[in-house]
Amino acid sequence: MASTCVVGLQWGDEAKGKIVDLLTADHHVVVRYNGGANAGHTVVRDGKTYKLSLLPTGILSPHMQAVIGNGVVVNPVRFLEEVGTLRAAGIAVGAHNLVVSDHAHVIFPYHVEEEIRGAGAAIGTTGRGIGPCYADKVARSTGIRVGELLHPDRLRERLRQVVPRKNLILHALSASAKIFDADALCDEYLGHAQAMRPFIKDTMRLLHQALRDNKRLLFEAAQGSLLDVDHGTYPFVTSSNSSTAGVWSGSGVPARHLTRVVGVIKAYTTRVGQGPFPTELNDGPDGLGEKIRKTGREYGTVTGRPRRCGWFDAVAVRYTAALGGVDELAVMLLDVLGDLDELRICPAYELDGERVTDFPADAYLLERCQPVYESLSGWKVDVGDARKPGDLPGAARKYVDRLIELIGLPVTIISVGPDREQTILCS
Ligand code: IMP
Repeated sequence: MASTCVVGLQWGDEAKGKIVDLLTADHHVVVRYNGGANAGHTVVRDGKTYKLSLLPTGILSPHMQAVIGNGVVVNPVRFLEEVGTLRAAGIAVGAHNLVVSDHAHVIFPYHVEEEIRGAGAAIGTTGRGIGPCYADKVARSTGIRVGELLHPDRLRERLRQVVPRKNLILHALSASAKIFDADALCDEYLGHAQAMRPFIKDTMRLLHQALRDNKRLLFEAAQGSLLDVDHGTYPFVTSSNSSTAGVWSGSGVPARHLTRVVGVIKAYTTRVGQGPFPTELNDGPDGLGEKIRKTGREYGTVTGRPRRCGWFDAVAVRYTAALGGVDELAVMLLDVLGDLDELRICPAYELDGERVTDFPADAYLLERCQPVYESLSGWKVDVGDARKPGDLPGAARKYVDRLIELIGLPVTIISVGPDREQTILCS
């Protein structure tokens, strides 16, 4: 049975949530397979705006079963908060439509403290404890899984082992760092565990049963492929496999079940946090970078940080499209470029006097790459009301056609605004 993955091909914030929301009609189960509450997904439905960080955006569709897979790192406080917010907004959320893997790892407050006091700033992380939690998962001796929350004695024993070690590290990082009490933390998290209990399941088994029942799965990636810990611009990346590479390990569903991979791109590029960004527009408060930021409301959903903005980088997207086995593209936020006289696309870089068309995923090499640009004329029209390709002005169609040519994949969806209706389906 057909399964789909929606994946970002840039540095995150490609508006994947809207595409997931559009595709839910053809699917039965939506699966988050990586990251945690560092993601920020905004979906506008019937004039209402929903902002989700940890729960899959697919949960907004009443017929969908939402799954938080084993590859996700779960902050129980945030989980319960998001469930509460959705319920308050009238969305039915319960064990009938939301499950969390017992194999997912738990983010504790010491992870957040470790990140704030440690190396988070050098990478520009979101401060949500993501990196330290994944580090503990891989270290094994200090990782605690969601399933362990349901065993009070075991949880207490584990926290009594882990917390004193964390306190030592925290104290070494900063004399003013917060120090934790294992028993108090255990009591607090046993409270959260009670509230989470109905949601905690063996999600791999559930997903395999769904496949046997001919259900269609929709995998929802968090972040973008350029932030993938193995294939992105390391070390300026997140700590999970945010490309389609994470589907198998992060859900237990073999990748061969994916029959459709939709790569989501913005019509330009943004990045939050540190790291190289060859096409960044660093042209001051009156420049085009700021203009795009303002028009596109390019401020982080999670942290509120202004996003760095720049021209479309075809070198990077060719790389992530190949990495992800992408079949088709969704081009987002085309409307944001409507006010510019001239547009630029970067089909190649120059490195040490040579033209480079293969993306160097080594951040230090990428830092030295200079973008080579080609110029296209702007369309100077508001395209927010376009509903079919023919409604777009010629210059906008030319721009999209050039992306298709450079990346070598068809564009099947063009988004011209945040609302569901502001979507062009291209056949
Ligand atoms: P972390 O995921 O909080 O560890 O942050 C690592 C890097 O990924 C930082 O540059 C963050 O700004 C970036 N990042 C994490 N989550 C997102 C996201 O959802 N969108 C865009 N960037 C993100």
